[in-house]
Amino acid sequence: MTSTLITGIAELVTCDGTGPDLLGIQPNAAVVVEDEGIVWIGAATRAPAADTAIDVGGRSIIPGFVDSHSHLVFAGDRGPEFAARMTGQPYDGGGIGVTVAATRAASDDELTRLLAARIAELRGLGTTTIEIKSGYGLTVADEVRALQIAGQFTTETTLLGAHVVPTEYAAKRAAYVDLVTGPMLSAAAPYARWIDVFCEPHSQHAFDADEARTVLAAGAAAGLGLRVHGNQLGRGPGVQLAVEFDAASVDHCTYLDDADVDALAAAADTTVATLLPGVEFCTRSPYPDAAGLLAAGVSIGLATDCNPGTCYSSSMPWVISLAVREMGLSPAQALLAATVGSAKSLRRTDIGRLVPGNRADLTVLDAPSYLHLAYRPGVPIARSLDLTASGGTSAGRSADPSRRTTARG
Ligand code: NIG
Ligand code: FE
Repeated sequence: MTSTLITGIAELVTCDGTGPDLLGIQPNAAVVVEDEGIVWIGAATRAPAADTAIDVGGRSIIPGFVDSHSHLVFAGDRGPEFAARMTGQPYDGGGIGVTVAATRAASDDELTRLLAARIAELRGLGTTTIEIKSGYGLTVADEVRALQIAGQFTTETTLLGAHVVPTEYAAKRAAYVDLVTGPMLSAAAPYARWIDVFCEPHSQHAFDADEARTVLAAGAAAGLGLRVHGNQLGRGPGVQLAVEFDAASVDHCTYLDDADVDALAAAADTTVATLLPGVEFCTRSPYPDAAGLLAAGVSIGLATDCNPGTCYSSSMPWVISLAVREMGLSPAQALLAATVGSAKSLRRTDIGRLVPGNRADLTVLDAPSYLHLAYRPGVPIARSLDLTASGGTSAGRSADPSRRTTARG
């Protein structure tokens, strides 16, 4: 086992639930990592010896971001759809078919190469855990393929065969639900941890409450964890359904009524409301009141939803700045939501907090304080720390002054 001592940390934000704003901040701290786990955290002056050392040069360290909602296995481009939306065209999910056609036509190698580039991009922005959905194949073989490719990069894989009804099934929706809940689920289950459904009566392409219920029941029976795309385009049944099924997460929550908020608050131990403010930004939609949700007792998470339609951004720092500017969260609340909150939505306690025993998923900020995540919107101050790479950074930035030295032997 190789141990590494990380020093030069002006501000260590552990997000461990202690101290002001629950951030567990330790100034002038050090961390010792063994293999992939944290074994010691404390004052730099009391740090034990280790095999190697990394000096981050007076920067901040926070838990790596947990991006608990993405659709990263895809080919093709929908820039023109975005441009049309900016001139008033509403989003209705119809563009998903464009990505389905391009993704089906792409080779395994092409999809893997595209995904690898997106993973490198998000790691370079400070994300260390990524959930990846299928949903641009919509045949048994294409959904399984997407999950197998995603599984090369993450354990948090989600079957989203119920993304939209593909055009070849437009006149036989029930047959498509049968396909998803039968042969597709059987073939995909070995490669998926989760199942998700786009429950949205406001889109003719997505699934209504009864269809979504069928998908969630089948997924649960197959042993998968449950997630729901709900209440994105208007008020609807998604949130209530997610709570009824003890889903780990209901995502978007753009349009909520009081009963939805009450249901989410009552289910705060099990179901996280995962907010995706990049989607509201990129679709010119109203932002949900995240501060109000917290005040009501709802568990919230933050994620990018990175996808070619509603939000083609992999930047969690940008999501945090939107959550602060547009959804009423304090910078501390937004950081907690993007780490601990999103980890909870994946039912994980080994990530999101920097405490001994947890994974050593560390993100370095080229800033004196975590406040700069929201204070410096659009500036690439965050990067995940790659403990295996020379220089300690996965982003490979030439200007990175983090230094790896051999402290022992
Ligand atoms: O989370 N709403 C459904 N799915 C994605 C968008 C997918 C797309 O437009 O390609 C979302 O917003
Ligand atoms: Fe999504």
